[in-house]
Amino acid sequence: MIYFDNAATSFPKPPETKEALLAALESLGNPGRGAYMAALAADRTLYRVRKQLADLFHAEDPSRIAFAQNTTQALNTAICGILNPEDHVITTMAEHNSVLRPLYRLEQQGVELTIVPVDTAGRIDMAAMERAVRKNTRAIVVTHASNVTGNVTDLREVSRIAQAHGLLLIVDAAQTAGILPIDVQSQHIDILCFPGHKGLCGPQGTGGIYVRRGLSLRPLLVGGSGVHSFDREHPKEMPTALEAGTQNAHGIAGLGGGLSFLSRVGMGAVRAREEALARRFYLGVRDIPGVTLYGDFGAWEGAEGHCERVATVSLNIGDLDSAETADLLSEQHGIAVRAGAHCAPLMHKALGTGARGMARFSFSYFNTEAEIDAGILAVGKIAEAVRI
Ligand code: ALA
Repeated sequence: MIYFDNAATSFPKPPETKEALLAALESLGNPGRGAYMAALAADRTLYRVRKQLADLFHAEDPSRIAFAQNTTQALNTAICGILNPEDHVITTMAEHNSVLRPLYRLEQQGVELTIVPVDTAGRIDMAAMERAVRKNTRAIVVTHASNVTGNVTDLREVSRIAQAHGLLLIVDAAQTAGILPIDVQSQHIDILCFPGHKGLCGPQGTGGIYVRRGLSLRPLLVGGSGVHSFDREHPKEMPTALEAGTQNAHGIAGLGGGLSFLSRVGMGAVRAREEALARRFYLGVRDIPGVTLYGDFGAWEGAEGHCERVATVSLNIGDLDSAETADLLSEQHGIAVRAGAHCAPLMHKALGTGARGMARFSFSYFNTEAEIDAGILAVGKIAEAVRI
């Protein structure tokens, strides 16, 4: 299999991830629930990985990072933990359902919602975002990069708007954690939600939430915390406040391995390689007759004033449904891509692909030039067959 679905989950994982996960399976007890060696080892693992994440995102201290199963859980925690009826919240058409669905649910409970449009290249309308601010606006929830187009959001501008109007900034880093530099303090991010199993190269079932010092959230879950067991209320201190129940210490150990891989190779080097591979693919398919591409690719054309990109290229071929394209790629060429709506319905509506979706190619450091060229050839062959 040639794997081009890294925006869904990164594959393969680096050796550090596998080794750390296997070692954890053979050695860890329950974190925070005992004083014997195996339980303490689990506790230390959680602390070490928390510290790695705090360093990566420049959090004030490791306690500001709580683990979560995935970005969806982190975003639900953030959105439901901060908004109250009669608050107004701003989000965008670039968002994933992990943002939209919690917001739609809160809307039914009296939260007011504005969804800022995107243009024909999927870029967020920043002027509309600022115009949307009201007296009761409490927060902006925005993705750092679209999982459909690969466009990177101008976080500097979103952050300026949030600061100018005293709003909380909640960032969905599903497509950027471990890929783009994120500094929560200098970028004035109040809450950052991130997966462990994509750019951070960890196992599925890992991820987390950063919450700025001084900000507290209503937790989604309360329960066992390993401490203050006779209190009726769940502890309010971070990170315990957002970590009810046994944590995924095995998976988190694997995530630590992924972070060690990023440190060994260097995040900049990983990003440079995957961006070069994605650009090679883009340049190879952009002129194939019948291929339609979606997003702002100006940066890869060397043009100025365009948004940054992550290593994702979405396309359609002729009139084919994206699922047909993905099937042909898989069955005839052994290539794995994700078709359909990518859980981001508003972006697809905006780009006119609500009915047939897109075939999304998303690349990683572990892809090779030969795989990219095989992908270009496959798209060319399918496009040729469609034309005949
Ligand atoms: N949200 C992930 C994706 O875009 C799963 O594929």
